[in-house]
Amino acid sequence: MTAVRTFFWRGSEVPFRAGESIAAALAGSNIHGFGKDPAGSPTRYFCGIGACQSCLVRVDGRATEACLEPVYDGMVVMALEDDDA
Ligand code: FES
Repeated sequence: MTAVRTFFWRGSEVPFRAGESIAAALAGSNIHGFGKDPAGSPTRYFCGIGACQSCLVRVDGRATEACLEPVYDGMVVMALEDDDA
């Protein structure tokens, strides 16, 4: 049996499978909105290939595309609009 891996999305623990991107892991937990961008527009999983910038989130203080960034155990992911944890 494989241990459940988790990361943190806006302070809540979320399970994921090895190899998933942040966006895929969030979608697997029915989290489809990723907060708002600096212009106030909602961010979400859209193109899935790093082209649209619609899925930007913040990891370790830097903005990154959730559809491209592999998630890892214990990772802390915030919305762009959130204060750092
Ligand atoms: S969904 Fe388009 S860049 Fe991530």
